[in-house]
Amino acid sequence: MSDSPKIIDGKATAKAVLEQCRVEVAELTTQGLRPGLAVVLVGSDPASQVYVGSKTRTCEDLGIYSEKIELPTETTQDELLEVVRSLNENPAIHGILVQSPPPPHIDEDAVVRAIDPAKDVDGFHPENVAKLALEDPSGFIPCTPNGCMELLKTAGIETSGKEAVVIGRSMIVGKPMALLLMGREGNATVTIAHSRTRDLATVCQRADIIIAAIGKPDFVTADFVKNGAVIIDVGINRIPDSSKKSGFRLTGDVDFQSVSKKCSAITPVPGGVGPMTIAMLMKNTIKAARQIGNV
Ligand code: GUN
Repeated sequence: MSDSPKIIDGKATAKAVLEQCRVEVAELTTQGLRPGLAVVLVGSDPASQVYVGSKTRTCEDLGIYSEKIELPTETTQDELLEVVRSLNENPAIHGILVQSPPPPHIDEDAVVRAIDPAKDVDGFHPENVAKLALEDPSGFIPCTPNGCMELLKTAGIETSGKEAVVIGRSMIVGKPMALLLMGREGNATVTIAHSRTRDLATVCQRADIIIAAIGKPDFVTADFVKNGAVIIDVGINRIPDSSKKSGFRLTGDVDFQSVSKKCSAITPVPGGVGPMTIAMLMKNTIKAARQIGNV
């Protein structure tokens, strides 16, 4: 491509979603149903602390009731399960999120299964995973892949009939992303690639749309990319950078420099998928409140 690519602005798209959320929260609150979200963080992972902080701040900004529950690294499995159970019973809370990854002694699967599926705004509970596969609209769709779909839609990118390659098979992004793209909304032909995929670059070269969710900085380079492809970069990697006050900078899973010379549209990092994840979490929290409150 000789033209510069369209930069898909996640910040602006998220802002529009959040403005709609603000209106809905005000309406529901007037009707006596103020949506509430609990965010649980175990341990002191710096990136997780930043994410959890932005989630609760966004709630405050929109008028959503929020509780930030920060637990020490030594918290036991039983103590964490007890916190989840009490949030399940709390009528002021409609959404529960336990930030991932927890410390290694925590059985994350067991924690996710303990969350009331009606409050599982992450969409990680097996009941919601099944509802996504079944395309049952009462379920909760994981926020990051849902945000990617919203970005593609608002950027006017047609997915129907297109070849999509999803790199990464995580339960948070890769698998739900593939389900969304292949489902009745996406209608794409989907390949999931992962760490054992042979000749990944060749697999990616057939893609009209690449979703990169590997967690490796600048992993997708120009040789992976067909001319005119659309690139959604889910990666948020911290790279040491002594010129920054924080001592690091953020970079995605895509080598923006080289890939942007070939693609037709691309999401930046930061300012692409990241803000959409939070916006979709707010949407899910409102949906949970509506479903629980029958409004
Ligand atoms: N860690 C990275 N992304 C997510 C997410 O969407 N939800 C939770 N709970 N943890 C995460």
